[in-house]
Amino acid sequence: MCLAGQDRVPVTIDYEGSQYRAEFWEGQGREYENAAERIALRHLLPRTSRRMVELGAGFGRLADLYAPYEQVVLLDYSRSLLEDAQQRWGHDPRFVFVVGNIYDLPFADSAFDTTVMVRVLHHLVEPQRALHEMRRILTGGGELILEYANKRNLKAILRYLLQRRGANPFSLEPWEFVPLNFDFHPRHVEGLLGEIGFVLHQRRSVSILRLPALKRLLPASLLARLDGFLQVPTAPLRLGPSIFVRVTVPGERGELTPSLFRCPSCHAVGLQEDGGVVWCAACGQHWSRRDGIYDFKNPLTR
Ligand SMILES: C[S@@+](CC[C@H](N)C(=O)[O-])C[C@H]1O[C@@H](n2cnc3c(N)ncnc32)[C@H](O)[C@@H]1O
Ligand SMILES: [Zn+2]
Repeated sequence: MCLAGQDRVPVTIDYEGSQYRAEFWEGQGREYENAAERIALRHLLPRTSRRMVELGAGFGRLADLYAPYEQVVLLDYSRSLLEDAQQRWGHDPRFVFVVGNIYDLPFADSAFDTTVMVRVLHHLVEPQRALHEMRRILTGGGELILEYANKRNLKAILRYLLQRRGANPFSLEPWEFVPLNFDFHPRHVEGLLGEIGFVLHQRRSVSILRLPALKRLLPASLLARLDGFLQVPTAPLRLGPSIFVRVTVPGERGELTPSLFRCPSCHAVGLQEDGGVVWCAACGQHWSRRDGIYDFKNPLTR
């Protein structure tokens, strides 16, 4: 019996209606982290891509970095965040906006040559399932640029050794510090990536200068530049709170599946589309494409 699409989807954090942009980024003293992450990405992203996807793209904070690419898909579970992204990037025909779940991506196998995921793994209760999906949608030779929150970071180690506070940073299991927010041990994440068949090429250790005193003392742009210089030399120690890795699917660069979508219900490849409605000819499920956003989170009732 085919169970496609009937697997239990793990509990998913819901940012719908959240003010993530205003409450976390704008004027919230995170200019240094934003700039440091951009430096890491600029070095890790490929120069060209035929079709790339950012998973958990939120309001499209990083979307300007994808300017050289032929097609850019931004996926998020929150429609309201994607609407923000759509307002900024929707004029560009290369952008596609998709509401969907990383655990069960509405994309065909080998649909992409590049996948990016930043500040999202820490919300995933089943990271291995998500990583399997990322492997599935990437073609041979495809690249995944992945960021994760590091439980074994310098501050956490010092806090644990000096004050005996916080989780043991040396244990491999993820630490859920608040519900649906996990810090990961680098060896755990790299172990999962290896088991799934990804090959590790580069690491960058990011935001190690995230100290309130330093942030008060130095302008964010200077701190970020210093961070940029430290990201590679300190990477083997993996002591930053945020680790970026570039991994690839083994093999030569393969062809991309021409169809972008696959049905999230029955997994048939290729959906039909007409007048704001998208449907699967194989199982009959329907979804909407409204205001330039495909919505695979809320199927239309038939
Ligand atoms: C902390 S925000 C990061 C947003 C963006 N990557 C950035 O760095 O600005 C986490 C994002 O991941 C999305 N997300 C979390 N779990 C998801 C899932 N299972 N499927 C799709 N999106 C998910 C949330 O909706 C939210 O937009
Ligand atoms: Zn279907």
